[in-house]
Amino acid sequence: MNVLITGGTGYIGSHTCVQLIEAGHTPVIIDNLCNSKASVLKRIEQITGHRPVFYPGDVRDAVLLDKIFNQHKIDAVIHFAALKAVGESVSKPLEYYDNNIHGSLVLVEAMRRAGVKNFIFSSSATVYGEQPITPYAETMPTGRPSSPYGNSKLMIEQCLQDLQKAEPEWSISLLRYFNPVGAHPSGLMGEDPQGIPNNLMPFIAQVAVGRRDHLSIFGNDYPTPDGTCVRDYIHVVDVADGHIAALNKLTHHAGTHIYNLGAGFGYSVLDVVNSFSKACGKPVTYQFAPRRDGDLASYWADPNKAANELNWRVKLNLDDMCADTWRWQQANPQGYPDESSNH
Ligand code: UD1
Repeated sequence: MNVLITGGTGYIGSHTCVQLIEAGHTPVIIDNLCNSKASVLKRIEQITGHRPVFYPGDVRDAVLLDKIFNQHKIDAVIHFAALKAVGESVSKPLEYYDNNIHGSLVLVEAMRRAGVKNFIFSSSATVYGEQPITPYAETMPTGRPSSPYGNSKLMIEQCLQDLQKAEPEWSISLLRYFNPVGAHPSGLMGEDPQGIPNNLMPFIAQVAVGRRDHLSIFGNDYPTPDGTCVRDYIHVVDVADGHIAALNKLTHHAGTHIYNLGAGFGYSVLDVVNSFSKACGKPVTYQFAPRRDGDLASYWADPNKAANELNWRVKLNLDDMCADTWRWQQANPQGYPDESSNH
């Protein structure tokens, strides 16, 4: 299939391009490079032998989208392009709603003009908000996300469900990721946050490689086995494979299909620190710090729906996530090179 990947040079998008190519599909990328570098395209080519067609541009650019749909016979769209920093979204809500919600609407309108009705949306476990019990299952009502970023994901889910009700020929998959981490096992691709990382795994990796002095662990008095928060960490290659499973199974099956992409069990912050220390062969320095606003103590996915209906489940464990992150970080201590350099 020819698949338009919005945000295809980003962290999850680039890994999905690799898995798509390896499964025999042809990705076409649009990305405005606001949080990624075009040099990832060379890495995709090194891994797969195929360099995807790349359109630098924004999903809010309807003229560019029409051009792409006219030039390629696109069968399906996987929509990753979005702003994703939870804390930043609190101070810049309008940017988040404009990029994420308006961007999604411009994209589905262009799809409609082009007659493309297969859509996979990059959603998040944040749409569950805080539930009284864990694991979180798709049958649970969505909750109140803790940030404009989370609200934007929930609102887009709602827009897409309403669209599918009004125009039943659409096939829409909403994939709710838990905590994607890790890197491609080749060491050629991984997460490359700009500035100080907001998320746990890239922060730990930068401490291990010497770019940061120590990790602050936000809270050690949660009601969890070791007092630190528990999350469902999932390897980014498993997340990418979840999109291939959804694409193969659901494309041309009209309806709205919602799946958790998670492992089905949780690890604490200290579990991650310990596993990473093992992977890099030295202790990761940390200090306990106050709780971070908006963090929930503990949750993980019920992954059974995706297992039963998509025949997809995670294959990689926490040690793989840490070993692959370390391989990437060591080989690329400053992340991806700028396009002008020759690596
Ligand atoms: C957040 C988002 C989620 C998104 C994910 C990306 C919400 C509520 N959560 O999840 O949608 O998919 O990022 O992976 O919108 N921690 C530290 N020190 C640090 C950084 C993190 O102790 O320097 C702890 C946090 O308190 C948390 C855990 O590590 O307990 C994981 O944090 P993080 O990687 O930021 O992910 P989430 O907040 O779970």
